Amino acid sequence: MLKLRPVICLFSLLLLYSPAPLLAAQGSRSRGSSKWQTLANDSFFSQHNLSMRNFIISVSRRVIVNYVSSPEVDFLRSIKSRLRTGPTKLVFQFLGRDDVEPSTRQIYGSLLNNLTFIKTFATGILVPKNYIWPVDSSLYLQNYTSLVLDAHKAGLEVYASSFMNDDASLPYDYSYDPVAEYLSFIDNGKSSVDGVLSDFPITPSATIAKLLIISSEGASGDYPGCTDKAYEKAVSDGADILDCPVQMTNDGIPICLGSVNLRDKTNVAQSEFSNLATNNPDLNIKDGIFTYNLTWNQIQRLKPAIYNPYINFSLFRSPRTKNDGNLMQLSDFLVFANNASSVSGILISIENAAYLAEKQGLGVTDAVLDALSKSSYNNQPAKKIMIKSSDSAVLSKFKSRGNDERFYLVDEDVRDILNSTILEIKKIATSVVVSKKSVFPTDKLFVTGETGIVPKLQAFNLPVYVQYFQNEFVSQPWDFFSDPHMELNEHVYSMGINGVITEYPATVAKFIRNRCLGYKNLPIYMTPVPPGGLIHLMASKNLPPAEAPNPILTESDVVEPPLPPVMQRPPSTAFVLC
Ligand SMILES: *[C@@H]1O[C@H](CO)[C@@H](O)[C@H](O)[C@H]1NC(C)=O
Ligand SMILES: *[C@@H]1O[C@H](CO)[C@@H](O)[C@H](O)[C@H]1NC(C)=O
Ligand SMILES: *[C@@H]1O[C@H](CO)[C@@H](O)[C@H](O)[C@H]1NC(C)=O
Ligand SMILES: *[C@@H]1O[C@H](CO)[C@@H](O)[C@H](O)[C@H]1NC(C)=O
Ligand SMILES: *[C@@H]1O[C@H](CO)[C@@H](O)[C@H](O)[C@H]1NC(C)=O
Ligand SMILES: *[C@@H]1O[C@H](CO)[C@@H](O)[C@H](O)[C@H]1NC(C)=O
Ligand SMILES: *[C@@H]1O[C@H](CO)[C@@H](O)[C@H](O)[C@H]1NC(C)=O
Ligand SMILES: *[C@@H]1O[C@H](CO)[C@@H](O)[C@H](O)[C@H]1NC(C)=O
Repeated sequence: MLKLRPVICLFSLLLLYSPAPLLAAQGSRSRGSSKWQTLANDSFFSQHNLSMRNFIISVSRRVIVNYVSSPEVDFLRSIKSRLRTGPTKLVFQFLGRDDVEPSTRQIYGSLLNNLTFIKTFATGILVPKNYIWPVDSSLYLQNYTSLVLDAHKAGLEVYASSFMNDDASLPYDYSYDPVAEYLSFIDNGKSSVDGVLSDFPITPSATIAKLLIISSEGASGDYPGCTDKAYEKAVSDGADILDCPVQMTNDGIPICLGSVNLRDKTNVAQSEFSNLATNNPDLNIKDGIFTYNLTWNQIQRLKPAIYNPYINFSLFRSPRTKNDGNLMQLSDFLVFANNASSVSGILISIENAAYLAEKQGLGVTDAVLDALSKSSYNNQPAKKIMIKSSDSAVLSKFKSRGNDERFYLVDEDVRDILNSTILEIKKIATSVVVSKKSVFPTDKLFVTGETGIVPKLQAFNLPVYVQYFQNEFVSQPWDFFSDPHMELNEHVYSMGINGVITEYPATVAKFIRNRCLGYKNLPIYMTPVPPGGLIHLMASKNLPPAEAPNPILTESDVVEPPLPPVMQRPPSTAFVLC
């Protein structure tokens, strides 16, 4: 299944785009918006007795056309004299390297070596982006070419084209963040293009508020989650808070791993332990190999594995780093995070505590309390400690420690939270974590509206954090133009959320640095999208059948019995292999 772009925003034949915001970002160009007309194929129109030349000349009498681009030398030459005195810039468009330019009968690849010739009839060139940053067959960037420098030397402006947010072949170097790609063309320290032509004109304009960046298993979009590499990258990417989802090993050691099932985030299925797969009806997991079944020594023999949530769309995360790094005990994580000076705190998440105590004889909350008391966090309150759980009984156990922040996780998509439920949450938690769909519900990836959950919780003095933010274009509703920055903008500006939990902290840090966000009056391209705006544009017969509305969170969802006592384990449970 492929996610198809909604066609409503595509213009054919004549593309009118506004590169103005981008030009403005570079400093001194035109204020207001400019018009760019792309004339794809003059010879085609000539055969049909239509004159593109006359069309352009007549249009330019009525409106100011800033740019005219064409892939045909003769066409640009023919209009050059007519437009010489006006403001219009003529841009020669390069098609594929092996395509033949109809007037000179040379391939575009060889015209590239003849920039002085192009300068005789054009003021700039428009090239596919891979002319500047070639990509190898495994989808990583190669070294940039000297094209931009050469063209600038020849007195030509350079524009890059073929940018798309929903581009499954975006090089891995950009971690699926389309803005990172634009920046590599504009601000790479070596050379800068003079503009970009994009199917998604909002993205290049949006490149900057106090928002807490919480990692999800470190920078797990780039490295296997919860490895030293993922945490190091999260620190260098600008995460404020590092997270550790705690799992227990068979020998009672708390470790950081995103799932109790080792199959999700390690290569255990290909290991000597593959025959340990069992069903666990309590946790509703089939064919799992569980952390509590293996000792820490055994788990260290496994390779961590990058998580690919969009494998169904053939979107894989960086193959080069897919097994990099080492898993960590909670105690190692605490040392690492404490030593990272830019990190202001840690988030420890605890799930399945009642199951582990009752059925596996493992006390996860006690193990975490123990690790914290032995760490330097105890006597050095410089870094915040946050505990996250969907089990109110877990949070209650941490209440006595006093200064910890306790995040109650609403672990389902909900459409409302009753006031009485919020009062119940306030008894055990200091903040709430909700899903993106509990803020902006969607139907078949169209935003259908907004819930009032965020302002409601905040009215009760509960900060709201939203999870999980990802970059892959299939992770955002259509309304956000396949742009993770637009999605963030919507949550931050229309909803004023307090923080995000993200697999790509670099993207959120970049979003926060966007200087446009500092303006009192947001530029029009940064204003949030009206929720539900897109789905109303569809004819009702084309609408998907409505999905059932999300439930309302009630007190009985929140109130839990106290954690059961940790079962006494029979002395022989230690698993012996070989
Ligand atoms: C332009 O149109 C002609 C005639 O229809 C066609 O043969 C040619 O392939 C087209 N060129 C491009 C670049 O689309
Ligand atoms: C273009 O004009 C010529 C001469 O007037 C005519 O013979 C030809 O059929 C026209 N072609 C089309 C596609 O209208
Ligand atoms: C550049 O292209 C023009 C037009 O095709 C040609 O006359 C000229 O010889 C070319 N120059 C070089 C150096 O290839
Ligand atoms: C990358 O390309 C630039 C210019 O094209 C060149 O100066 C530089 O040496 C290249 N770097 C590598 C690592 O090849
Ligand atoms: C991916 O495909 C598999 C098999 O077709 C299916 O069971 C699974 O639910 C799909 N996952 C998602 C997230 O759509
Ligand atoms: C602490 O951080 C410094 C600087 O980043 C590093 O050199 C040192 O090895 C770190 N120490 C530990 C125990 O990780
Ligand atoms: C819920 O609490 C808010 C804030 O205190 C209040 O404005 C609202 O009227 C309450 N709603 C109900 C149904 O009691
Ligand atoms: C492994 O887990 C299963 C249940 O998932 C349990 O029956 C079995 O005793 C466990 N083995 C060890 C060694 O803990």
